[in-house]
Amino acid sequence: MYFIIMETKTKIAGVEFGSYVLNASGPDCSTLEELKVIGGSGSSAIMMKSSTIEPRQGNEEPRYAKLLSGSIQCMGLPNLGYQEYIKFPIQLQKYNKPIIASVAGLCVEDYKKMVKAFQDSEVDLIEVNLSCPNLEGKPQAAYDFKQSEEILKAISDLGNKPIGLKLPPYYDFAHTKQMAELIKKYNVSFVTCINSVGNVLVIDPETETPIIKPKKGFAGLGGSCIKPIALANVRKFYELLKGEVQIFGVGGIESGADVFEFLLAGADAVQVATTFKEEGATCFERINKEFEEIMKRKNYNSIDEVKGNLKFL
Ligand code: SIN
Repeated sequence: MYFIIMETKTKIAGVEFGSYVLNASGPDCSTLEELKVIGGSGSSAIMMKSSTIEPRQGNEEPRYAKLLSGSIQCMGLPNLGYQEYIKFPIQLQKYNKPIIASVAGLCVEDYKKMVKAFQDSEVDLIEVNLSCPNLEGKPQAAYDFKQSEEILKAISDLGNKPIGLKLPPYYDFAHTKQMAELIKKYNVSFVTCINSVGNVLVIDPETETPIIKPKKGFAGLGGSCIKPIALANVRKFYELLKGEVQIFGVGGIESGADVFEFLLAGADAVQVATTFKEEGATCFERINKEFEEIMKRKNYNSIDEVKGNLKFL
């Protein structure tokens, strides 16, 4: 008798991931203690919180709320400052999984300084966050193609570690195409689609107020309600980037079936945010197991047999 081994391993820019599912740069990945929890979990990598040059407390509370089909948050990048995240990888190496830095500059120089510092660190990949919607008075860089290009020019040749861009959702193919063309001009190995859907408003009719405090209630929407937007962005970038640039899918992953949908759309791996926040670190193992069961039931032996193979009606 012999067994067929079903592989959900994946590779991003040549870096091996033990499975297809990891945490997103979002909830519960800011402190060393939180990162150790991720290290000991079923997440196939340790993704760190987006760092800024200086430490930040983030926005005022309440800044996160669970919704019926997702979450709303306006965290404001609470983080320890990039110099702390440069020190962490050495202490996380025992988990034997890729470590990913995330940087969120407030200006081009910030991006340059942080990317350079992480290029000289022990991290495996660098995700450059161009899409935080939660900073008062600071537009999301990835909606400004001129500014995005300035950042790309400044960061894309600072070292050998692969870099990627965390992008906001695009709602018109003209914009997706413009960003894809820009990405192809520079040394970008992956994109992460999508960050939260920015500047939504949830109102409590009883209190007659928004349900969160910062930015007069305008905040980022995440979780299952944004999954169709995330899938569409993954698919469109998959069509436009044609495997030259890899894709992390993120947005509304709660189950193995969700993961399978992102694989069909063309994602090379997926990141989990709201479900991790709500369920805790056991979610990675559960989601992975459900995903493997679907793959087995459908007689697929590896993710490459499915990736991007969306069928059409
Ligand atoms: C936040 O900390 O405000 C969320 C991070 C992000 O949207 O990039």
